[in-house]
Amino acid sequence: MDNSIKNRFPIFVARPGLVYLDSGATALKPDTAIEAVSGYYRDLSANVGRGLYRTAEETSARFETVRERAARFVGADPEEIVFTRNTTEGINLLEYSLADRVTEGDVIVVTALEHHSNFLPWKRLAKRSGTELRIVPFDIEGRLNPDSLREHIDGRTKIFAFSAVSNVLGSVNDVTALIRAAKAINPGIITVVDAAQAAGHMAVDAREWDCDFLALSGHKMYGPTGVGLLYGKTALLRTLEPYQVGGGMILDSTSETPVYMDAPQRFEAGTPDIAAVLGLEAAIGFVEEIGTDAIHSHEIALATKAAKRLTETFGDSIRILGPATRENGIISFTMDGIHPHDIAQVLGERDICIRAGEHCASPLHRELGIPASARASFSVYNTETDIDRLIEGLKGAVNLFKK
Ligand code: ALA
Repeated sequence: MDNSIKNRFPIFVARPGLVYLDSGATALKPDTAIEAVSGYYRDLSANVGRGLYRTAEETSARFETVRERAARFVGADPEEIVFTRNTTEGINLLEYSLADRVTEGDVIVVTALEHHSNFLPWKRLAKRSGTELRIVPFDIEGRLNPDSLREHIDGRTKIFAFSAVSNVLGSVNDVTALIRAAKAINPGIITVVDAAQAAGHMAVDAREWDCDFLALSGHKMYGPTGVGLLYGKTALLRTLEPYQVGGGMILDSTSETPVYMDAPQRFEAGTPDIAAVLGLEAAIGFVEEIGTDAIHSHEIALATKAAKRLTETFGDSIRILGPATRENGIISFTMDGIHPHDIAQVLGERDICIRAGEHCASPLHRELGIPASARASFSVYNTETDIDRLIEGLKGAVNLFKK
């Protein structure tokens, strides 16, 4: 990756010394996404699906164009795309709308890899409905093994929810194989893929994966906060109860039983974050311009170099979590005698941004038997200089905390 890519990210003009290694939390925004957001407020500022004047019609048309573009981006049809706030909202929508599909005696299956957003909604649904919640462990490399699903999924399993990529270990699951294995055991199972850490880093293809639902966040793939996508297979999506009710999703509100619009509009009550949706289109454009293969290779190359340098520099006192070889830009670790929060604090003082703690994935940390970890996540704008700064910063932390 050419270093000039950094020029596309205005934050580096305002903060030239910034070493941003927290793209797993949220990605930085390229010029085009920022301009799309401010351009909406500057040039349009109208609502969607309501007004009969020019700016309103133009806004509505552009909004639907983004749906088409987003659909192509995830290998879907436009009517299969619901705009949400983020991955969390997409999965909470499913928790609400799938509640009538599960009853006492059924089983919901999740995994020990999950971020809380793909764990807590299912845990709550299981509790409310009297269903059993089963948790699939990950293997030694931090991946889910399709062959092991037989031990957890059976004819009573209604929902299987898992993430394409672990936000802590950086392990990449074989989504197609997992879904095939789950459906071979139980053809009626509903599969939900959390693609939050995959989108913008590697190809996401709902059709190829053959998942029933897929959720992602725009802000993790260079888009604005406040917008995400929920993909659902049309046949399923149009039978689900709406999550929220209100304006923009109703055909008849005065009859005894309200009549809702068809999917996807029935899941988009109220005024959406229009600026963010337009910004998402620019983010998709950015990812397509660079190409997911190039982004993925760049991230793996940097994470691989970082892992090598960390091991060379800190030897046995550092433990790198996850697969033996890096599968994306995420690299989590622990260091002897220094709490991850202290590591992040020392680095933060040097403008080196990493994340520390449980990364909203406490079941995973329990499984690993550690209270917390430090995580550096590399993205398209990172360079080898960032690795140098990370190593120097960590040396500083070791010096500060050495006994
Ligand atoms: N899910 C985000 C992360 O892993 C917030 O940091």
